[in-house]
Amino acid sequence: MTFDNLLYQTDQGITTITVNRPDKLNALNYDTVMELNEAINDAQQDRNCQVIVITGSGTKAFVAGADIKEFSQYSVTEARALAQRGHTQLCDLIEQSTKPVIAAVNGFCLGGGLELAMACHIRVASDNAKMALPEVSLGVIPGYGGTQRLPQLIGKGRAFEMIMTGGMIDAQKAFSMGLVNHVVEQDGLMLLCHAIAEKIMSNSTVAISAAIKAINANYQDGTDGYQVEIEEFSKCFATADFKEGTNAFINKRKANFPGN
Ligand code: COA
Repeated sequence: MTFDNLLYQTDQGITTITVNRPDKLNALNYDTVMELNEAINDAQQDRNCQVIVITGSGTKAFVAGADIKEFSQYSVTEARALAQRGHTQLCDLIEQSTKPVIAAVNGFCLGGGLELAMACHIRVASDNAKMALPEVSLGVIPGYGGTQRLPQLIGKGRAFEMIMTGGMIDAQKAFSMGLVNHVVEQDGLMLLCHAIAEKIMSNSTVAISAAIKAINANYQDGTDGYQVEIEEFSKCFATADFKEGTNAFINKRKANFPGN
């Protein structure tokens, strides 16, 4: 898979997608968003991919936001299309991915970059990472789901403060607020993401997809997450993974899930 603004590599079940515009701190322009959409869709179809890791090129930035130069002259109509694209083609697509998506936050993670990271299922940060939603300093608000996902992750009061001040927080502060799951020194970032991915891959892929669907259902308007859980739970009983998982437990052996 080759892209102009991304690196894409699959190895031992893990697909790593690296936003690759280091001279622009990996800012998300139109082409990069569309390539990310293609890459994530490709990973969904790829039988060799079980877990997706998204990171940024270089040691300075994960993604420093949407490309400010590109959108600075947009009309209201163009802005609506920009936000709509960011939601449906990128962040919703990641959040609803049937495969787990881990953000390896390796530096500045700002604006659209933090919104991208928040759409991922798990976030791991390097100790030099800095996070903010600084959009109000540009006279705009977060437009890729930040006003919705940040309160979900850190609570309404803290989200109000982060969004209204636009202030940057470091990785430890992000960890203390529950915005990232782990903080690790930069050299160990991908190692830890791979260790988490490997642990996930030892479980049933089919069950993991069902769990993603059920957890997400809690955040969808008009959807009864408890009911989705009941449906997803019961559907598991018809799968070969369930037969294998329960059989392996009863026979005191390690499961070898056919769905993986
Ligand atoms: N959009 C477009 N270009 C960006 C960008 C963004 N969001 N963030 C960084 N860049 C570009 C800079 O314009 C610069 O390009 P240039 O060399 O052609 O001028 C390059 O990336 C390096 O950034 P620079 O600002 O020189 O690095 P720095 O170390 O001095 O500062 C930041 C780093 C992250 C503090 C600063 O780049 C910044 O504030 N970026 C914007 C963050 C933001 O508001 N994001 C939200 C957007 S919605």
